[in-house]
Amino acid sequence: MTRVRRNLKFWWTQNGLDYITPAHKENPEGWSVALMLKRTWTDHGLGLPVLDFGCGRGRLTHAFAPADYVGWDINPVAMALARSRNPEHFFLDRSPEGGDLGILRTVLFYTVLQHLFDDEVLEILYRLKGAPKLDGIVIVEIMDRRLRRGELANGFVSHNRDLVEYVDLLEKINFKFIDSESYPVDHYAKQGHKATVAVFKKCEEQINAASAPVSPD
Ligand SMILES: C[S@@+](CC[C@H](N)C(=O)[O-])C[C@H]1O[C@@H](n2cnc3c(N)ncnc32)[C@H](O)[C@@H]1O
Repeated sequence: MTRVRRNLKFWWTQNGLDYITPAHKENPEGWSVALMLKRTWTDHGLGLPVLDFGCGRGRLTHAFAPADYVGWDINPVAMALARSRNPEHFFLDRSPEGGDLGILRTVLFYTVLQHLFDDEVLEILYRLKGAPKLDGIVIVEIMDRRLRRGELANGFVSHNRDLVEYVDLLEKINFKFIDSESYPVDHYAKQGHKATVAVFKKCEEQINAASAPVSPD
């Protein structure tokens, strides 16, 4: 079935802080996201500065030193709060382009892409592909396609993907899967949902589609 393309960017700008984290919780994970991010960067030799794409209200900003961080979110209310909470850190005024892209080494998508359809994700990825120094992408979210509910009555989109779907999407811009780790999330303890941290790195060679990992299912 063909989906009529909806303007999700507009929806995210209209809803204040309502959908940034479940039940407005500051730490739905129940563990230190900052520590997890620091370890991920060290373990995989990820570069800095990072672009925290869809930084929301800046709750993860403090995981990075001001000189190592660029934040961006399409939601102006969230951006204003992120700025006021992290006055030393740098936030973009517009969607990353041109000179902004020049300095970036890694992009972090923390529970952002699961709320966007494939065409929006590809639009973002193709734009980032033009960043000359970008060689790392980290995606953190609940990667489980069974939770996909599509567009809800309130306009919220839940388009959860399995890890293998991200492997396919990122191969389109020549990033290959490196590693993943999953952590239980307190807020979803009853349902048993876990957050998966997936690390991708730029591949100098054109990726052969046959190298994609096989789904454990
Ligand atoms: C579920 S929230 C997560 C926020 C933050 N990463 C966190 O974990 O607290 C998703 C965020 O992605 C932002 N977003 C959605 N589409 C976007 C786009 N096209 N460009 C920039 N930000 C976007 C939303 O405004 C929202 O703040």
